[in-house]
Amino acid sequence: MSSQKKPHLNLVVIGHVDHGKSTLMGRVLYEIGAVDERIIREYEEEAKKLGRETWKYAWVLDKLKEERERGLTIDLGFYKFETKKYMFTLIDAPGHRDFVKNMITGASQADCAMLVVSAKEGEYEAGISPAGQTREHVFLAKTMGINQLIVAINKMDTVNYSEERYNEVKNGISRLLRMVGYKVQEIPFVPTSAWYGDNIKEISKNTPWYKGSTLIDAFDTFKEPARPIDKPLRIPIQDVYSIRGVGTVPVGRVETGVLKVGDKIIFMPPKVSGEVKSIETHHTRIDQAIPGDNIGFNVKGVDKNQIRRGDVAGHVNNPPTVVSEFVGRIFVLYHPTAIAAGYTPVLHVHTATTPVTFAELIQKIDPRTGAVAEEKPAFIKQGDAAVVRFKPMKNVVVEKYQELPQLGRFAIRDSGRTIAAGTVIDLKKVE
Ligand code: GTP
Ligand code: MG
Repeated sequence: MSSQKKPHLNLVVIGHVDHGKSTLMGRVLYEIGAVDERIIREYEEEAKKLGRETWKYAWVLDKLKEERERGLTIDLGFYKFETKKYMFTLIDAPGHRDFVKNMITGASQADCAMLVVSAKEGEYEAGISPAGQTREHVFLAKTMGINQLIVAINKMDTVNYSEERYNEVKNGISRLLRMVGYKVQEIPFVPTSAWYGDNIKEISKNTPWYKGSTLIDAFDTFKEPARPIDKPLRIPIQDVYSIRGVGTVPVGRVETGVLKVGDKIIFMPPKVSGEVKSIETHHTRIDQAIPGDNIGFNVKGVDKNQIRRGDVAGHVNNPPTVVSEFVGRIFVLYHPTAIAAGYTPVLHVHTATTPVTFAELIQKIDPRTGAVAEEKPAFIKQGDAAVVRFKPMKNVVVEKYQELPQLGRFAIRDSGRTIAAGTVIDLKKVE
């Protein structure tokens, strides 16, 4: 079957640590035929030796040795699979809270997400608690612009496939999703067991009360996102390689605009420019790349050490906007005490990270109505929405959310926790 004609979607799998993300996706890949049985059997043998037979599916994704031994996901795993309608690149985000940073990078490239929530006694509750990552990931996914979601209510085997428990989890998650702004009525909630394969490829006899589709069919309910090809070109850089015989090859995802071979491009903030000699996506040469494409492109006239992760490529006649300050509208997701001006955590925007100072608290906003609750507040707290002037420690590319939403949303983190997320409403351009 030709996969070329199918539209391509980047899917991120999110959810609280140990809720079964890797296992469930490993199972999906197996059921779809994207991994062959021999590999699963190989993993099974190895897992048995460690006395962890049930890890075999997760290992499809958790390929790194260290991850295997510790049984958790550290880096983002990339995998491809096809459904009837789409070609997916799967991003398996780690649930462990130290790794939310990677999750942010993963989520910022995703078109859609699958949220995995364990129905197991105590696990669902831990995930939606204020410190839980079910809550954190849902919030980040929405802030990072992922508007399409499916939910797998996993480990149904541990609760006897109880309809009551399913409804309890579904209702709780629905409340959370509605709060951050998802249209819940459009979201499928599929009861699954990654271990036993319920409702993954076939509707399970264990859940006769469930009237929805299988998980694999739910993937086809996603809609193809709009591709902003008429916007200025923006490619946040993830990595830069120097390939012998080819030259400098930056790698990233086209967020907006179109990149063509022969284009003159500039990398900001460093302000180095060059000419595009070739473009590749998944080892295939292409003449042009459009939004959503993950590409590597060879640029003549640019040296590997002149550019780095976090820089953004654009056309020389419409370069990415570099700022020394910007104003953001944020929501404070988590903070143990209170935030005052002067606080300097870390800014994550597209692929860039830099320390950032809360330079001025401009307004406190009522998160429900959007109305101004207080001018120039002395501090803001968990649960508050606010307008804040930010001063990054070094110049960084951001765009106004209204103009280029893909480069206008950001997260604020401190000591491994997401403090806030928001959108850029104004900026101070560096000339
Ligand atoms: P991180 O990547 O570390 O966030 O975890 P994860 O969400 O990927 O979870 P993982 O797939 O590693 O599974 C965590 C544990 O739950 C493992 O011991 C799995 O075998 C187990 N598990 C996963 N799915 C199911 C399921 O459907 N039923 C039961 N009973 N256990 C499951
Ligand atoms: Mg995992």
